[in-house]
Amino acid sequence: MAIVKKLIAANWKMNKTADEAVLFVEEFKKLVNNIKNAEIVICPPFTALQAVSNEIKGGNVDLGAQNMHFESAGAYTGEISPLMLKGIGCEYVILGHSERREIFNENDFLINKKVVAALSHSLKPILCIGENLEQRKNGKTEEALENQLKNCLKNITKNQISKINIAYEPVWAISRGNPNHKAATADDAESGHKFIRSMIAKMHGESAAKNTRIIYGGSMKPENAKELLAMPDIDGGLVGNASLDPKSFAEIVKSVRL
Ligand code: 13P
Repeated sequence: MAIVKKLIAANWKMNKTADEAVLFVEEFKKLVNNIKNAEIVICPPFTALQAVSNEIKGGNVDLGAQNMHFESAGAYTGEISPLMLKGIGCEYVILGHSERREIFNENDFLINKKVVAALSHSLKPILCIGENLEQRKNGKTEEALENQLKNCLKNITKNQISKINIAYEPVWAISRGNPNHKAATADDAESGHKFIRSMIAKMHGESAAKNTRIIYGGSMKPENAKELLAMPDIDGGLVGNASLDPKSFAEIVKSVRL
């Protein structure tokens, strides 16, 4: 069981223009301005980072990006560096999302480089791992999680591990924009989280495992957030589709009970 504040993060994926993002934040921040028991993060697309950064200044909402390159600068057409994210006010960065792995061929080796780079720039990674449907059907869930963890966390020290937020996102539970898609049951999610925590304990000891946030992603919505967030090893949520609407995302944030 973790002892840190829960983290509720919005992953907007490739949604919202900068103007739409501003409209969202204007409404959303009023709905959550008295929330103190959860850390709230919005990860808009790169093109809306500046607009969201301006809108959330001085409030209780933090900024995150959805990806980054591992170098600080250089000839990498189309890429965004950790320095640029820091410069715009990002505290968090999502790394290794399954959509980046599946559609853009990112592998554990590359993701590990990004995790190391994020930490060296004092960005807090939200490292996504999760089994796909085939792995689950073949009883290979734990093997998949173990491999991803070991590879993506290579060279990460005991002192660094709790700066990383691990997002357990079973790929089969991700909505892909379908609001009726089924999330993992709270029990299935909890058993994934428990396994991940036990792996961190094996790698870095019990105390590091306790202090590392493991958040759940995959069709989290107002209807199931309370139950998922009440599980002992679920330290927050990474919310896609249901974070696109300010009311629905605020409701999820309010589902956190300490
Ligand atoms: P959904 O909440 O739309 O299932 O997306 C989850 C996700 O991929 C968050 O990173």
